[in-house]
Amino acid sequence: MSLELRWAAEADFDRVAEARLRCYAASPAEFSKYRDNIYSGQRAVIGDHLLAERDGQAVGTATSLSMTMWARGSAFPAQGVADVGTVKTHRRGGKSNERGIASQVMNELLRKARERGQVVSALMPFRASFYEHFGYGLAERRTEWVVPLSILPHGDFTGFRYATSNDDAQLIAARQRLAERGQCDFQRTIETWRFHREKFWNGFDMVDQPKPGGPIESYIHIQDIKRDDKTMVRVVDRGADSFAAFLRQLHFLASLRDQYSAAVMYLPGDLDLNRLLKEVQIPHRPVEHATARAYPFTRMQLRVLDHKRFLEGLHLPKNVTGKATVAIKETEGELNTLRIELSDGRMTVTKTSDAPDIEVTDVQWASIATGDSSATTLARLNLIRVRNASVLPVLDSLSVGPVPFSNQHF
Ligand SMILES: CC(C)(COP(=O)(O)OP(=O)(O)OC[C@H]1O[C@@H](n2cnc3c(N)ncnc32)[C@H](O)[C@@H]1OP(=O)(O)O)[C@@H](O)C(=O)NCCC(=O)NCCS
Repeated sequence: MSLELRWAAEADFDRVAEARLRCYAASPAEFSKYRDNIYSGQRAVIGDHLLAERDGQAVGTATSLSMTMWARGSAFPAQGVADVGTVKTHRRGGKSNERGIASQVMNELLRKARERGQVVSALMPFRASFYEHFGYGLAERRTEWVVPLSILPHGDFTGFRYATSNDDAQLIAARQRLAERGQCDFQRTIETWRFHREKFWNGFDMVDQPKPGGPIESYIHIQDIKRDDKTMVRVVDRGADSFAAFLRQLHFLASLRDQYSAAVMYLPGDLDLNRLLKEVQIPHRPVEHATARAYPFTRMQLRVLDHKRFLEGLHLPKNVTGKATVAIKETEGELNTLRIELSDGRMTVTKTSDAPDIEVTDVQWASIATGDSSATTLARLNLIRVRNASVLPVLDSLSVGPVPFSNQHF
């Protein structure tokens, strides 16, 4: 029988949990964990869980979250794709006349995002090449830093204290300020915050409120981890209003040096943390002194679903003026040829049948549009086709500013 796809009602939640258990869990004992996550409604709501069924059996599932993403100063309705899975007995089931189960689930998720008017769809992949089949490209630059506490800068952090539930409103406001300044960062509800604290993070929340009764200028969630037989403090969530507030977070971490050997932090790929340390070197050879280690990661992938709304929403540098015709080849086979005019920091986009200056797949376009890479870089790597190189500065303006970095995992 062909696959049936339907959006689960509350009465189906046990069935969704059972399907997730069969996709991800190591044993049936984990059922209640999956069930609780779905019923808690902290992250997804009724209508967000997709079930794929065959012969009356649940064989696949996914979640479509409704989120808000900020990019270059504007908010965009976004789909957050999560929990994509096929039960272990039904994987790689694609045949010449039918696509595999997860592939059909992904197509339905994209249809749902378009129906909901979402401008982009984003996800945190297990394997990027799988999601490239559905038009998703790299859209995050992330560095994991492992920094011995002895080389962190020391200094004042007197506003630091443990967070309480009374801080929720201020925390949400601080998180919102961060999202609005960020590139491809997501707004967070207090329910989502609680969900992550309770289900995954399992550590302590601290806030920095330098003036009693004043604003919370930064927040941090820390947990203990063991690595290389050492105990380290891992920063699983953080945000800071200003550079001074970020520095106070480093001072706070430095003060923990009697308990931990190093801090593990995740920062945007364009933040050169080593330059703030007492030893700036990231060594190219074995050394005996304390130094930082930095590991670059790609993480989020994104697909732009509504090119006009996305591009016209961005606030770009005002020093470039020009036009470019870009042909974006969508995964489904459609060619979207767009006339982009940039002036006074804003793009105006119209559909055209003119010959393109640049030809690009939706996968590479995601990286250009979000500033994960630039058109010039991708042209140098032969990943996009350039017919008229004089238009490259127009597209390169998309990569001026902070690199994409999501403070929200989903
Ligand atoms: C990852 C996962 C969802 C894939 O499910 P699946 O149903 O086997 O996926 P599909 O069959 O649709 O696709 C798997 C591969 O078969 C290919 N395929 C699918 N249908 C095909 C067809 N008709 N013809 C040729 N190839 C096909 C896909 O293109 C894909 O190829 P790739 O290896 O090049 O990426 C599944 O393995 C899983 O649940 N894993 C554990 C949970 C997990 O990691 N989930 C991801 C969370 S982000």
